[in-house]
Amino acid sequence: MTKAEAKSPVAILVPGHFNDHAIGRIDKAFRRLRIERADPSLVTGEMREAVRGIACFGGINAAMIDALPNLEIIANFGVGYDSVDAGHAAKRGVMVTNTPDVLTEEVADTTIGLLINTVREMYAAEKWLRDGDWVKKGNYRLSRLTLRGRRVGIFGMGRIGLAVAHRIEAFGLPIAYHNRRKVEGLPYEYHATLKGLAEAVDTLICIAPGGASTEKAINAEILSALGPDGVFVNIGRGSTVDEAALAAALESGAIAAAGLDVFADEPNVPRSLLDAPNTSLLPHVGSASDHTRRAMADLCVDNLLSWFGERRPLTPVPETISVKPRA
Ligand code: NAP
Ligand code: 8YV
Repeated sequence: MTKAEAKSPVAILVPGHFNDHAIGRIDKAFRRLRIERADPSLVTGEMREAVRGIACFGGINAAMIDALPNLEIIANFGVGYDSVDAGHAAKRGVMVTNTPDVLTEEVADTTIGLLINTVREMYAAEKWLRDGDWVKKGNYRLSRLTLRGRRVGIFGMGRIGLAVAHRIEAFGLPIAYHNRRKVEGLPYEYHATLKGLAEAVDTLICIAPGGASTEKAINAEILSALGPDGVFVNIGRGSTVDEAALAAALESGAIAAAGLDVFADEPNVPRSLLDAPNTSLLPHVGSASDHTRRAMADLCVDNLLSWFGERRPLTPVPETISVKPRA
């Protein structure tokens, strides 16, 4: 690298549409290169030579990492990084960062909203009012389900799972959870298996990460263990659910209702879930307030600034914790 090149701003590749606040900050400190999507066949010769960082909403596979030999860091906008091949990044000496903590409380709030919406049919009751049915037909029907008397299971008792649990505690409901490892010192009942958790509760909230270890973990067996009064809420990742099995369970009455913020093939939602009368569906809005998305944007860009300035990441993902900056 020549002296002039060394002094020129670091090139950061931004695939597709990105957060406006993050783009504003990237443009102040770096040279931003745009690409329609993270597709190695779209990588130009200039990108191949220049790109040292990526800022993205996930979607970075091994081939994309390999297409950029001077890549040092992938700054993911979001805490979930299941669509970034962090294992391959680690092998290639590429740092991966995410945006934990700054969205925890927002996502926990959304989870509670989705849970209540699902159980008390707020979406249908509001539609009743807006459609004029209150005037024309009278009161909205009593909801079949209630939160009262429920036992809540949390699949993924991490940062967000714990924030959800704190809110559920205030509702006076017992809480149990499943992680691969028991969290020492937590006052909630631990289940070593997801099936054990589903059998012990009637309300299952999934806030586990996506990826191979949770792929379709919520299947027909788990839903049947939850039972006919069962309510399933997913705010984690759609890949964690066998959506065909979920639709079948909702139709047959194997479970009572589901509230979903995430889907296996976003933004496409299976017709069977759209048509089910006992679902409450949101378009992946867990963290989607101006306030929280701005905080996520700041952390995403601060990771780039810290990496290229102080030569250390702020919030590295566990897989790349040992990656060292290049000399
Ligand atoms: P976190 O602190 O890392 O918590 C994840 C928890 O899941 C950990 O307690 C982990 O415990 C558990 N877990 C991981 N793999 C598991 C497996 N195979 N089986 C059982 N438990 C497993 O992450 P977080 O900050 O709470 O975020 C969690 C996830 O929420 C993100 O990864 C993302 O997918 C999702 N999310 C969604 C939205 C939205 O808008 N809907 C927003 C933010 C985040 P063990 O390691 O002990 O198993
Ligand atoms: C965002 C999320 O919707 O942080 C996550 O894992 O799923 C959400 O906060 C996403 O990352 C960016 O669009």
